[in-house]
Amino acid sequence: MSMQLEHTQSYLLTHHGGDGQLAAQRTQDSHTRNHDESFWRFWYQWTEKILPADGHVVDLGAGIGLFVQTMAHRFPDLTTTGIECAPYMLERTVELPSNGHIVVDDLNAPSNLFQHDSIDTCIANMLIHELHQPILLFKQVKHWLKPGGRLILIDMVRQPLESYLTHKHPDATQLERDQLEESFQHFLEHNRYTPEDLSFMLQHCGFEVEILEPFKKGRAIRIAATA
Ligand SMILES: C[S@@+](CC[C@H](N)C(=O)[O-])C[C@H]1O[C@@H](n2cnc3c(N)ncnc32)[C@H](O)[C@@H]1O
Repeated sequence: MSMQLEHTQSYLLTHHGGDGQLAAQRTQDSHTRNHDESFWRFWYQWTEKILPADGHVVDLGAGIGLFVQTMAHRFPDLTTTGIECAPYMLERTVELPSNGHIVVDDLNAPSNLFQHDSIDTCIANMLIHELHQPILLFKQVKHWLKPGGRLILIDMVRQPLESYLTHKHPDATQLERDQLEESFQHFLEHNRYTPEDLSFMLQHCGFEVEILEPFKKGRAIRIAATA
């Protein structure tokens, strides 16, 4: 295993609170919430016209593979490939039909997994804030996507400390030291980019940004960008 992959895996384990089993369980528990009606409305609005029935979708940071599984079942002619590198997510990958796959790779510097101009749609749902930098991923995604193909990016965005802290803990003065330290560490890790930062990086890597749609009262953003 490469030193860089090991470094990413150990960073992720720390970011996920040091308990991989719990992180995998949380990914499972939050799946329906993260893929609610408004997610699917956005998804279909921005992919329907450019995603053929026999196209290829790539899920970046696939967790335990639930989105891959849903897409593969819902669209039997479509190929859906998830990319993931955390061992505790990979160990719990859900059962996939033959048109759904999970590939192991480090998205901080993705390998040449797909041919140039071969992918119709990529999705990064709550992934970008976990990367050390997203430029190499955006460059690679732009290379993989067909001209006119779409990247759907969904993530938390920068917000004031007040809304971050009080959303989870209405009274922070009641917290213990370890809870406070975890909250302040996550404040740094979950609040990395503004919508404008994400838009800038995507344009810098050759994408046209179609829409920035805030949700969760401005604490998160949905972006559709065209290659
Ligand atoms: C917050 S979870 C979201 C999972 C899923 N996309 C969802 O919406 O439920 C982010 C996932 O990205 C994976 N991830 C983070 N950094 C990665 C990297 N450098 N390479 C591959 N996967 C990564 C994590 O292990 C985790 O499973």
